[in-house]
Amino acid sequence: MQNLNAPVTRDHDSYRLHGVDLLSLCAQYGSPLYVYDLDHIVSCYKGLVQAFAWPKLRIHYAMKANYNLDILKALRAEGARIDAVSPAEVFVVLKAGFPKEDILYTANNMTDEEMSLVHNLGVLLNIDSLSGLKRYGEAFPGSNVCLRFNSDVVAGETEKVQTGGEKTKFGIRLEDVEPALDIAARYRLTIVGLHEHTGSGIAEAEQFYQGMKNLLSIGTKERFPALRFVDFGGGFKVPYRPEDKRIDYAVFGKKAVEIFADFCRAYGRELELYFEPGRYLVAEGGIFLMQVNTIKDNRGRLIAGTNSGFGHLIRPMLYDAYHHILNISNPNGASRTYDICGNICETGDLFASDRSIPEIREGDFLAVLNAGAYCHSMASVYNLRPLPVEIVIRNGVASLSRRKATHEAFAEEIVASYGG
Ligand code: LLP
Repeated sequence: MQNLNAPVTRDHDSYRLHGVDLLSLCAQYGSPLYVYDLDHIVSCYKGLVQAFAWPKLRIHYAMKANYNLDILKALRAEGARIDAVSPAEVFVVLKAGFPKEDILYTANNMTDEEMSLVHNLGVLLNIDSLSGLKRYGEAFPGSNVCLRFNSDVVAGETEKVQTGGEKTKFGIRLEDVEPALDIAARYRLTIVGLHEHTGSGIAEAEQFYQGMKNLLSIGTKERFPALRFVDFGGGFKVPYRPEDKRIDYAVFGKKAVEIFADFCRAYGRELELYFEPGRYLVAEGGIFLMQVNTIKDNRGRLIAGTNSGFGHLIRPMLYDAYHHILNISNPNGASRTYDICGNICETGDLFASDRSIPEIREGDFLAVLNAGAYCHSMASVYNLRPLPVEIVIRNGVASLSRRKATHEAFAEEIVASYGG
């Protein structure tokens, strides 16, 4: 058995996810189809808990990466908490059984209405602007609050997901700590947490540590006497290309904990240490399956057309992101070069271009790897194609997680939503 990209394995001519044959899933559930290996996701969670050996550690899963209810429940059973960014995310996790104390709310450009809604549910708010803090203070004087600062470090896979430095809309500038304290004092707000999130897919450990240090540099006991926790966000990178190196999070975690321990010693109290990973927990445990129905030779350019599109998985189109793709129907075929595209009416609707892959024939099934994070959760119904089915695998057994609407039922839902 050859290990391709955890946790997909190849056993002779069949590709498997946690032992389950992917072609048999296509046959049973149809495609396009998202499949998640819950055991793999749970093992990623446990790995991070071990890596950050701190007695008061909390891992807040950034559910924006994947809000699948079975994933949320599996992580809750292991003790994960939640990073939520919209009122509906909060309602979903409350319904999934997370207590309100386990949620930190980090929306950007929060409206007053949203602030009240979430605050009144008993969830702690993480405020990321001076004006937002003032509005929060006016509405809820005497409350607890967490403050999000801009870490001043520019890092992350693409410019679009870098959240530190000059060019970003996120966080209170570190140099505005005094005005933030003035506002907090004016409204008797207790600052119980400090937060920063530098970016997604941070390549160098040093960049992450620098973000931590920059935030901690303002976190004195004199300024923030009532701190309960410091939250250093998410951004843990996973390999997407077969040749990408894998970061050793055991080594990474040790150093991060040392930085925090030094801070707590100076602060004079052992605080809670929070992280907010999304991608790291779910990316590799998910795959996306689709079927090729049309092969075209466009003057020598081979085009494989599938039954899905960027509505279902937009990362390659939006970020030029690389996702490894397997031809699970023809693993031993001779390699040829293809553009692998979708069924949406735009030329940019590509999963991969100039991709070398075993020969694709009409009817073959393709598996897109690393599809657990920011794939289904960013899907849309553009061109009015309903969202794909989701399957979960637990202990080697597959089951339906989220059903698919038929085209007709989906259309009826749309017409009804217009009252027509
Ligand atoms: N905390 C905050 C405040 C965040 O904004 C994010 C991600 C996370 C935690 C989790 O970051 P992660 O551990 O997943 O890197 N759609 C993009 C990624 C957007 C990330 C947005 N914020 C993509 O597909 O690459």
